[in-house]
Amino acid sequence: MFDFVKMREALADHYDLAPNPKLAAEMAETYARMDRVISPPDWAIHAPYVAAINRLKKEKNAVILAHNYMTPEIYHGVADVVGDSLQLAIEATKAEADIIVQCGVHFMAETSKILNPSKTVLIPDVEAGCSLAESITAAGIAEMRAKYPGAPVVSYVNTTAEVKAASDICCTSSNAAAIVRALPDETVIMTPDQYLAQNIANEVPEKNVVWWAGSCIVHEQYTPEDIREYRKWHPETRIIAHPECPPEVVAEADFSGSTSGIIKYVTAEKPKSAMLVTECSMASNIADELPEVEFAGPCNMCPYMKKITLEKILWSLHAGETEVFVDPEVADKARLAVERMIDMSRKLGI
Ligand code: 13P
Ligand code: SF4
Repeated sequence: MFDFVKMREALADHYDLAPNPKLAAEMAETYARMDRVISPPDWAIHAPYVAAINRLKKEKNAVILAHNYMTPEIYHGVADVVGDSLQLAIEATKAEADIIVQCGVHFMAETSKILNPSKTVLIPDVEAGCSLAESITAAGIAEMRAKYPGAPVVSYVNTTAEVKAASDICCTSSNAAAIVRALPDETVIMTPDQYLAQNIANEVPEKNVVWWAGSCIVHEQYTPEDIREYRKWHPETRIIAHPECPPEVVAEADFSGSTSGIIKYVTAEKPKSAMLVTECSMASNIADELPEVEFAGPCNMCPYMKKITLEKILWSLHAGETEVFVDPEVADKARLAVERMIDMSRKLGI
């Protein structure tokens, strides 16, 4: 269990973290990136943390890689790089700082460590897991290989290092269709997200895609009826669903894509109103850059992603906790699967 008392006592000894309207006003430029979604009193609460984290990052030569599902004060206030799972993995290969603070979930921190093993990789809360990563082990991969002999295993990056090491290649939601299409085999095993696999099977009908029965607890909650109701509620809205949603949900949507695909779509299309059927911080994070777009619900939070807070990021940098390690032998094998994905994505122009 995360020790909040220890963290708060240690932080109180070293930093003045009381709400500070004067400091908040001095940091108006940073606030301007999120003032559509964060109120001035809330910014006065966040500002001392943002200032302390940015100072500590410089002192310790650290870089913060943040996923698109982080809250706006993290995404706009302290992140050096933001992106989807593929973009963050690519950035991890390039990081030159001594320390990578991964603001996302545990498998993302493991991926950074696998790709850049000489760096210290920290995760602000080691309990930030993922229902997909928890749904399968290396034994599950062996089970699928026994069931479909000779078929390649494409594992979502939302997996542990052991599962990556047991797979042939990784994928993310932004490159999954292209990777499955480009493989020479007719039958392709996709793990662990059954819905991503089913969506890819629809997109790449020439392949026999078989899957593991894992799911994302955020996206599996949406139903096609929800989407029809959203349309009734906001008939003008553009409905955009992440491919971790069930295929019946994706079929009702106007567009489906990874988190970066969603950002690109809304930025290019600038619809009057948009509904992002995904984790709810996404809409908040892009709201300021798209003042002409009205973001109308829904809001479904990922309880794992939301374990990462400004307070825990400050603690992580201050105390060097929690460092992520991957067994070097496992890391070497997992690296092959992740690097194959990055190389193939590059060749396919993704
Ligand atoms: P992407 O950012 O790659 O679309 O992944 C979404 C997700 O659920 C990450 O946990
Ligand atoms: Fe995992 Fe879903 Fe949360 Fe992403 S949104 S970390 S896939 S549980």
